[in-house]
Amino acid sequence: MNQFLNNFSSTIDYYKLLYKLSSNISNLKLSYIIVFIFILILSAFFEISLLGFLYFLLKALLDPNYYQGKYYFKIFLDFFDIKSSSELILYLSICFILTCIVAGAIRILFIYLLTKIVYFFGNKISNICYQKILYEDYINLYSKNSNDTLSIFQKMPIINNSVYVTLLMIYNLVNFTFIFVILLFIDIQITLYAILAFTFFYLFIILIFKNRIYTNGSIVSEEQVTNIKILRETFNGFRDILINNYRKFYNNLFKKSYSRLIRGNEENRFLFAAPRPILDTFLLSTVGIIISINFENYSNLEKLIPIFGVIVVASQRILPILNQLYQGHMNNVDATPHTNFIYNFIKGPNLNSNNNKKFKGSIKLKKQILFRNVSFSYNEDGQNEILKDINLNIKCGSRIGIIGKSGSGKSTFADLILGLLSPSKGKILVDGKSILGKENIWYKNVAGVPQNIFITQQSIAENIAFGVNIKKINFKNLKNSAKKAEISKFIEDRKDKYFSLIGEKGLKISAGQRQRLAIARALYKKSKLIVFDEPTSSLDVKSENNILNTIFTLSRQKYTLILISHKISNLKKCDHIYKIDKSRLYKVK
Ligand SMILES: Nc1ncnc2c1ncn2[C@@H]1O[C@H](COP(=O)(O)OP(=O)(O)OP(=O)(O)O)[C@@H](O)[C@H]1O
Ligand SMILES: [Mg+2]
Repeated sequence: MNQFLNNFSSTIDYYKLLYKLSSNISNLKLSYIIVFIFILILSAFFEISLLGFLYFLLKALLDPNYYQGKYYFKIFLDFFDIKSSSELILYLSICFILTCIVAGAIRILFIYLLTKIVYFFGNKISNICYQKILYEDYINLYSKNSNDTLSIFQKMPIINNSVYVTLLMIYNLVNFTFIFVILLFIDIQITLYAILAFTFFYLFIILIFKNRIYTNGSIVSEEQVTNIKILRETFNGFRDILINNYRKFYNNLFKKSYSRLIRGNEENRFLFAAPRPILDTFLLSTVGIIISINFENYSNLEKLIPIFGVIVVASQRILPILNQLYQGHMNNVDATPHTNFIYNFIKGPNLNSNNNKKFKGSIKLKKQILFRNVSFSYNEDGQNEILKDINLNIKCGSRIGIIGKSGSGKSTFADLILGLLSPSKGKILVDGKSILGKENIWYKNVAGVPQNIFITQQSIAENIAFGVNIKKINFKNLKNSAKKAEISKFIEDRKDKYFSLIGEKGLKISAGQRQRLAIARALYKKSKLIVFDEPTSSLDVKSENNILNTIFTLSRQKYTLILISHKISNLKKCDHIYKIDKSRLYKVK
């Protein structure tokens, strides 16, 4: 009994989960729900009318006097002014045909409405998921497994399908109830026996298959993540795969993962479809048995014909309904791991409210940036501080050099001053104002030339004027920035010049060219503060000197510069040089 109750409650759990997921949609259209319920009832009404007309039609056909003395027939006869039994059959047939057409049309309308609702749901939920990624904190985003996150968009179609199927289940449950009631009127015994037999059959199968289907669903959900991981590693690490003869290894990895995924999907497809043929066979045999039992008594059979007619139609309507309820539920069992995954992703810590909030006021770097007792740790509990008690004053217009061993925390320092990371302790003040919570405004003042520059699949112009609509790009500034970053010749030698595409499917550029592009991007932005993180690490000595010369000729009135390098010789033109060592900052010059 306990087992049964557990099974029952876990059955309900999925629908609760789906409800909770959809409650994330703030403006779930009320109009959709009202139309949904209205069409639901209308359709159920036509479904029963269909069965009713058929029953009476067959009765009237077999027994022309059947209608006499029946009050509901009298209304029908009076309404259509029917005088003979052949007229009655004609009118009943017409009503039957019309009801068939209307019931069919309403079914189509209903399915159309379902697809609309699913579209609305899928659109909203996937957008919530993407926003959750896009508006995430810098530090949190990288702490998540990106393969997990990417698999969300493989799981969305499964959840959309599950919503569709669930709505269809509601529709079918209502229809089932209506048809059940009318069948009870026609023949209580047969109806009860048949429905009980069907229902137990399906419940029994659900009990047997459920765990297997859930396990397969979980396997598919896991393998989707593994698949993304394998494909990304193949692209990102192709050089290493080639050089180290790793192709076979990756091929096996992919084969194993994908075959598990497909097997899970296909096994479930079989488990969804298996009960129907068994039931069909069972039903047809039953009709055969009833006929053979009664075959000696022809008049008995004659009486049974209307009932047979209704059984055929009902089984044509009821069996698909029961089957859909079964398949729908099993489909949802299969979708549970995927839905749980997305629900937990959405439910996770709230979006950084600062990212959404429009902060009023401004931060403009005019005098200085002050680090006051700043400590930073990547761990939430503050353990393992990468930077400890940093105190530093950066005057506007100055050039500051930062040096330190690899892994000492130079890039972390850069991210702190850019506002990408927030101090665990202490404050960063810009002209006396803390940037904490106002990062979005602070970003307008700063540009960073990172160690690995990010390039989008757009034109060179759009990659330099990053985030600016191509129509609004200031080409004078663009060309000037490219020239200063010593990349203008390379660009102007291309056929399409600034409109040449780079990145995937476009021009491939060297690491040094990438760095120069990053510098051009920082210069185009005309930010007050530019942080260069190893800006010349990919360049030869001559180019390195050229770029450094360019950097140091930037106007002191316009730019405050922070240069990070592991080579102190690169920093000799800086006003001050600081060294990061064992989490502390020491002044070297
Ligand atoms: N996202 C992160 N989560 C946790 N730890 C991190 C993260 N990024 C960096 N670290 C750790 O912080 C330390 C400092 O890293 P950082 O990138 O700032 O060093 P760096 O001085 O710039 O090194 P390099 O000269 O090699 O670029 C390293 O020990 C690194 O392991
Ligand atoms: Mg670094």
